[in-house]
Amino acid sequence: MPEFVSIAQVGDIPEGEGRSYPVNGKVIGLFFVDGEYHAINDFCPHMGASLASGHVEDGAVMCPWHAWRFCVKDGSWLDNPKSDLKTDCYPVKVEGDEILVSVPKKEE
Ligand code: FES
Repeated sequence: MPEFVSIAQVGDIPEGEGRSYPVNGKVIGLFFVDGEYHAINDFCPHMGASLASGHVEDGAVMCPWHAWRFCVKDGSWLDNPKSDLKTDCYPVKVEGDEILVSVPKKEE
């Protein structure tokens, strides 16, 4: 597993919101939902909008461009249960005040 890197501090993201951060050549959408942090690929697999700027409700983020919904926990696309389309998700941990994610480098 790639090494964990610190991308944000506890308190940087209000409950029920997301923020985007560059990590290892990718952009990660980090969400704070129900007291837990979750990291998914910020790039919407439809046409590339930033998912971190979407509205979050019931554990799902709604893409700001065309309203596709993705689970913030595992990146799965929630609008079509028959589809296995998903965006990548990444391990997150909190150490003290630091929020760390483990993201493979882009070429891996
Ligand atoms: S770009 Fe996200 S739903 Fe279209």
